[in-house]
Amino acid sequence: TKRYAVFGHPVKHSLSPFIHREFARQFGLSLSYEAIDATPEGFAAALDTFAAAGGVGANVTLPHKQAAYGLCARLSARAQRAGAVNTLTRIPEGWEGDNTDGAGLVRDLTERRRLDLRGRSVLLLGAGGAARGIVPALLDAGVLRLVVVNRTPVKADELCDRLGEPDRATSRYWEDMRELGDFELIVNATSAGRDGQALDLPLSLVNSLTTAVDLSYGEVAIPFLAWARAAGCRLAVDGLGMLVEQAALSFAHWHGKRPDTEPVYQALRERDV
Ligand code: ATR
Repeated sequence: TKRYAVFGHPVKHSLSPFIHREFARQFGLSLSYEAIDATPEGFAAALDTFAAAGGVGANVTLPHKQAAYGLCARLSARAQRAGAVNTLTRIPEGWEGDNTDGAGLVRDLTERRRLDLRGRSVLLLGAGGAARGIVPALLDAGVLRLVVVNRTPVKADELCDRLGEPDRATSRYWEDMRELGDFELIVNATSAGRDGQALDLPLSLVNSLTTAVDLSYGEVAIPFLAWARAAGCRLAVDGLGMLVEQAALSFAHWHGKRPDTEPVYQALRERDV
């Protein structure tokens, strides 16, 4: 039995073990997939211990995505562009890093929600690890204009510089949000909800076709989704679909098989997360 795991802090409530076990069941694969709590200081050592114990693949969640990027011997092009890693695969030289978050989000939006991202303008709130992971895929999906706003402006600047597409991706000040006009997609990649905080966002961001998506799910996503509905967004979605899709892409990378995400997504929805 091959060993897989998700590393996070906290990680106790991670849905990844459930999702990967369900995917494995679809193919009659036997695998072990556990949740491993590692502090930021202990993350690198925890990965070494896991590898020494036969670990061959791992997902990485908060707050380790940027640290994981830093310790890979090899990186996929999209992980390189993101500067963040959510999928680690054991190779002879160490770990190979990939990032399936952005592609997972795009699959949820375009396939499950039937949104066309081509030519759209997108507002990205936040410039941390979660935000970084998704921007390359949004641009690849044909987004015309990506505006990044972050409470700490220098991080939004860095994120845009890394993308190197000054015509499409630009940073603006959080305080200037009222002057940005409206967007077809608003992505909340901040961690404000984790602290139970609601963001103060102007209604002028929304038009009657706007979709709002929070990259998190469950209670953490509630304040932003409530704002989106009250503001008149056409659609307000949480990150549960993205979670299942990014897991499916990691699973495909490790096992060479594409799982059916819909029954797993529905099972999680019924659990009311
Ligand atoms: P993650 O891995 O979830 O992205 P992170 O790297 O710590 O976590 O990034 C958290 C993001 O949420 C950052 O963009 C942060 O803004 P700062 O860079 O200014 O810290 C943003 N954030 C957290 N709380 C926020 C709040 N109350 N209002 C606005 N932005 C907030």
